[in-house]
Parts: sequence; structure tokens; C-alpha cells
Amino acid sequence: MKKIVAINAGPRKGFNTDTLVRKAADGAAAAGAEIIWFDLYRLEKFTGCISCFACKLEPNLGRCVVRDGLKPVLDAIREADGLIIGTPNYLGDVTAMFRALFERLIFQSLTYRREARNRNEHLIPVLMIMTSNAPEEFYAKAGYDAMLERYRGSLNTFVGPTEIMTCTDTLQVKDYSRYNWTMFDPEHKQKRHDEVFPLDCEKAYRLGNELLK
Ligand SMILES: Cc1cc2nc3c(=O)[nH]c(=O)nc-3n(C[C@H](O)[C@H](O)[C@H](O)COP(=O)(O)O)c2cc1C
Repeated sequence: MKKIVAINAGPRKGFNTDTLVRKAADGAAAAGAEIIWFDLYRLEKFTGCISCFACKLEPNLGRCVVRDGLKPVLDAIREADGLIIGTPNYLGDVTAMFRALFERLIFQSLTYRREARNRNEHLIPVLMIMTSNAPEEFYAKAGYDAMLERYRGSLNTFVGPTEIMTCTDTLQVKDYSRYNWTMFDPEHKQKRHDEVFPLDCEKAYRLGNELLK
């Protein structure tokens, strides 16, 4: 059975990112994949790359040796046939937990050799999902498109062919009336959540379903 690692790199369960990763995982499962699920914020403590360079020396070439909460995730990705990972946009970037995984995942395969930059020969399809408060129109001018392209570039090279799905203008909290936030129109946010978010869920399901095709 094909295995797909599905990762929620956001802290909240049951909200936008978690829901979309679950939908994508459901789609992959419906296509016959076994899902190995990780909630990055619920793992044992972990860090980003600690610059030990053990992955650049025998006998650990291409393998992060750090034994912390990310080890089972990196091991599972190494054995997997596909990867689904979702993150909310935090301050114009991915979450800190996504970034920690990204550093370890990419850097272990980077050779620093001109002849062949990537040591990972087991390339797998990747679906990266990012949710954001910002609407789509904001993406180009805020640099989100460029930021996502950078992630896509590294993932493409070191993990495998990457598709990026965005879910924009999300419902950030259930009850906006509790907050004195003048930037948002709560009615618009709720309407979008009711009307557009279900379509995003369908899209995530379809992309997950087609990931291994
Ligand atoms: C610390 C923090 C920083 C955020 N920064 C941004 C941002 O720079 N741009 C943006 O569009 N949304 C930003 N957001 C909003 C989230 O990306 C958005 O609400 C997302 O859909 C939340 O995902 P979740 O519902 O899975 O938690 C931020 C939220 C938090 C908590």
C-alpha cells in the first residue's frame, strides 16, 4: 500500500489548515493510500537544523541525525510515496514549526557539491497548502507569491514535484464580536467561510486524491 505523510504545521485543530490537510488526506486515502498523520505542534520538543553537519559525513550522508520530535516525521517522509503539508501564513511566511521541519528536511539532502546538489534520490509528490487571512489580491504585492515560489523551488529539488494550494481570506476566529478588530468585516468573513471554504475543501480532497496519479 502506498503511504502518504500528512502534516498539520499549524497549531489549531479543527480550523482552516487542519481541515484542509485532513480533506487532502481523505482524498489520498480514498485513492487507496495509507495516511501517516503528524500534528507538528503536538510532537515532542524539536528544533530546526542545529548545524551539526552530521548529514554531510559518513555514515549519515543525507540523513538528519538529531533525535527529537521531528525524527519520526523525517523517517516517515523518507519511507513515504507522497507528502501533504499545510501551514497557516504567519507574518508573511510559514509557521515556525513548518520552518523547523523544512530546514531539517531540505538541508539533510543538500550536498554543497556543484555536480549534484541533491542527495535524495527518492523524490515524492508534495502538496503544500497555505491558508491566510489575506485575500488573493494581496498575494503579489505582499510578496506571498514569491515566498511560496521559494518554498516550491526547494521542495521541488530536494523532496519532489510540488503543487501549492492556497486558501485565502479565512475565518480567523469563530466570533469576531469579541475582538476590537476594525480591519475585518465579520459578515464577509463568515459568508466566505460558508461559501468559499467548502470549495477549498473539495479542491484539497481532489488534489490529495490525485497526488499519486
Ligand atoms: C501569529 C499569526 C500571524 C499571522 N500573520 C498573517 C499574515 O502575515 N498574513 C496573513 O494573511 N494572515 C496571517 N495570519 C492569519 C492566519 O494565517 C490565518 O487566519 C490562517 O488561516 C489561520 O490558520 P488556522 O485557522 O489553521 O489556524 C496570522 C495569524 C497568526 C496567529
